[in-house]
Amino acid sequence: MFIWKEEFDLGIEKIDNEHKKLFEIGNRVNELTKSFYEGDDNFDQIVVVINELSDYAVYHFKNEEVLMEKHNYPNLEEHREEHEKFVFELNEIDFEKIDDNQEEFLKKLLEKIVGWIFNHILKEDHKYKNHIKENL
Ligand code: FEO
Repeated sequence: MFIWKEEFDLGIEKIDNEHKKLFEIGNRVNELTKSFYEGDDNFDQIVVVINELSDYAVYHFKNEEVLMEKHNYPNLEEHREEHEKFVFELNEIDFEKIDDNQEEFLKKLLEKIVGWIFNHILKEDHKYKNHIKENL
């Protein structure tokens, strides 16, 4: 279970809501992996929600970049690169090739994705919050 904590809050409502949505989708994947059973249907179902998480992350990154652009955030390019590296990694995953130990693979992947998102919000997103809030 991924629990939203106050320290994740940026104080920018739209962005905080999108981050919460990422948590919510992450929790759905987590629940599904907890009840994993060997079977293509189950694997496919989890992959669908992981893809939903990736798609929502891409949607959120775009919104965040537009907001930073609008408020002339000076480190936008640096931040955008962080987003792009993560999206590149997500796009590299080939679920078709995962035949062995699917459960382990999905658990590690979820840990990696959610770990990256937590870390990114706490370290990188917090760097821009004051600039945006001062210019709102
Ligand atoms: Fe909230 Fe930079 O992602």
